[in-house]
Amino acid sequence: MKNVLVIGSTGQIGSELTMKIRREIPGSTVVAGFVPGAEPKGELLETGPSEIANVCDAKQLAAIVDKYQIDTIYNLAALLSATAEKKPLLAWDIQMNGLLNILEIAREKGCAVFTPSSIGSFGPSTPHVNTPQDTIQRPTSIYGVTKVATELLSDYYFHKYGVDTRSVRFPGLISYKTLPGGGTTDYAVEVYYSAVKGEEFVCPIGAGTYMDMMYMPDALKAAVDIMYADPSRLVHRNSFNIASMSFEPETLFECIRKEIPSLKVRYEVDPVRQAIADSWPDCMDDSCARSEWDWKPSFDMESMTKDMILHLREKLDLK
Ligand code: SER
Repeated sequence: MKNVLVIGSTGQIGSELTMKIRREIPGSTVVAGFVPGAEPKGELLETGPSEIANVCDAKQLAAIVDKYQIDTIYNLAALLSATAEKKPLLAWDIQMNGLLNILEIAREKGCAVFTPSSIGSFGPSTPHVNTPQDTIQRPTSIYGVTKVATELLSDYYFHKYGVDTRSVRFPGLISYKTLPGGGTTDYAVEVYYSAVKGEEFVCPIGAGTYMDMMYMPDALKAAVDIMYADPSRLVHRNSFNIASMSFEPETLFECIRKEIPSLKVRYEVDPVRQAIADSWPDCMDDSCARSEWDWKPSFDMESMTKDMILHLREKLDLK
């Protein structure tokens, strides 16, 4: 991993992953790919090159790969689950036609490709508790449909053409730097903002709904470590279950109240998000990731909560 293109570099994952690789991988050039309207700012703009990189424009992507002699592409462009339900054709275009463009360029130019999958790749007929690595995947959301197809197409390009495709199934990701947007798991980020601001939180997901979640530093570590994994140990490629914590809303709120006892919550369940959440696993079994590339998370709910509150107070200038 020397010359890296991060597509979607201004999004929730991309904004932190781009900086992590620039900081931690000596000699790397990391191009921050963005689409007009989501331009990089601040340190993202100042610490390395940036280029317009629209996944639907294959020529544009190929030109960037040539210009910087890109060897690794992080393909993070996607509409999250609830937004994708509103714009299914756009979700298909970005997630599928975009992926095909990237895989073709990778095949021609010898790049490795990471395209995340998700808990969203599972559906109502998937075993919900300790969801195995290899199991039934019949998602009911368009987001999930594109994620299963992403896994299959990425494996196809590996087996047929030898393209070095690797991936993880991310749980809901919790972070303080860049907000997600339009996801089913976003509530677990938004509640922290309400808590530190002293505002009532209106929760769109019902009490008792379990989903896998993960703190961003662990997710970023997974995204880098999987690309450095010894290929001879990988039985799977697209895509690995990874897990660190699973909770329902009340458990998270109680954990936040240990730090901010005044947190107030009201439920206003959004039927679209709730139906999606109900179809997803309660908790995934990540033993294949642990044994094939030594995956191990560092944060649990308590340590994440302390860190989130500390950084959000700093960011929002609230003491
Ligand atoms: N966090 C995503 C969503 O909620 C799932 O991968 O859509």
